[in-house]
Amino acid sequence: MRVLVTGGAGYIGSHTTLELLANGHHVVVVDYLSNSSAESLRRVAGLAERPVELVEANVGEAAALDAVFARFAPEAVIHFAGRKAVGESTRLPLLYYRENVAATITLLETMAVHDCRRIVFSSSATVYGSASEAPFAEDAPTAATNPYGRTKQMVEQILADAAAADPALSVAVLRYFNPIGAHESGLLGEDPKGVPNNLLSFVAQVAAGRRTGLQVFGNDYPTPDGTGLRDYVHVVDLAQGHLSALDRLGEGGGYRVWNLGSGRPASVLQVIEAYARAAGTRIPYRLVAARPGDVAASYADVTKAERELGWTAHRSLDQACADTARWQAGSPDGYAAG
Ligand code: NAD
Ligand code: WQD
Repeated sequence: MRVLVTGGAGYIGSHTTLELLANGHHVVVVDYLSNSSAESLRRVAGLAERPVELVEANVGEAAALDAVFARFAPEAVIHFAGRKAVGESTRLPLLYYRENVAATITLLETMAVHDCRRIVFSSSATVYGSASEAPFAEDAPTAATNPYGRTKQMVEQILADAAAADPALSVAVLRYFNPIGAHESGLLGEDPKGVPNNLLSFVAQVAAGRRTGLQVFGNDYPTPDGTGLRDYVHVVDLAQGHLSALDRLGEGGGYRVWNLGSGRPASVLQVIEAYARAAGTRIPYRLVAARPGDVAASYADVTKAERELGWTAHRSLDQACADTARWQAGSPDGYAAG
């Protein structure tokens, strides 16, 4: 298939682009590199031994997007492009509504003009908020608690309405839990700019001696060791979930939602211990107050993805830590060194 991947130079997009190429699909990436580098795609092309074209454009730019559709005629779109930092979204909500919501409308309009009727969308477990308790099934109520999460909820609604209005439109909403890990080659991984927002990226930089001051947010949650429980899912498993979703979209129009998680909760302390084992080092940390807005436990009910997509996350937390440690050792400055 010819697949347009928005945000394909980023963390999850680059791993998914590699899986697409490895499975014989043709890929064009649209990414304006606001949080990534073209080097990730050079490495993807090297690993796949196949070319991948990068068009440096904002998905919200209708003319640029139209030109890509006219030339490449994609049969499906995987839409990763978007901003994802919760704290930043509270400071800059309009940027988030423009880049995550308005840009998606431009994308859907362009798809309609070019008769492209299949889209996989990157949503997030953050949409569940605190409206119900883990494990979250796809029909649990949603109630995002910050502007970033609300952009995901809004786009889900827009996609549902668009699919209801056009029976030929085939939509897969994938709600990722906590993506971690790296490609087993050590050549692809997460390359956060500045202070990492997510736990494992921070832990990896502390283990590598690049950063000090790891804080564990909260140790009196009602969980086995008192720290927060999350559903960490290996990025390569996640990437493969997109190919399973693409297969299902071929079966006809409609709006469908699947959780992509491991379904196996791990605590903050378990993540730190697993990474310390993988990297063969001690990881100092301090227990501090809970982070405002955090829930005690967030993990997936994965039965729907297993049943309908035939997809499960096979890789363990230990494997994800080993792969991240390999990426960290091989590319200590991320993609910056080329
Ligand atoms: P990322 O920042 O590494 O990748 C996003 C990519 O999109 C970047 O390469 C960025 O340059 C590009 N981009 C952003 N806005 C764009 C725009 N308007 N036009 C063109 N390119 C644009 O993030 P990621 O972790 O790979 O996340 C991918 C998607 O998955 C995002 O939509 C994110 O919200 C969602 N998601 C991520 C996580 C996570 O923890 N990583 C969890 C749940 C959902
Ligand atoms: C994981 C656990 C923290 C950092 C976020 C977004 C969510 C989704 C995934 C995009 C929690 C604890 C963290 C630290 C810590 N992204 N922690 N010390 O908050 O589950 O989800 O990323 O969609 O929308 O909200 O992930 O990695 O920040 O935290 O103790 O320095 O680690 O309290 O229990 P989170 P996280």
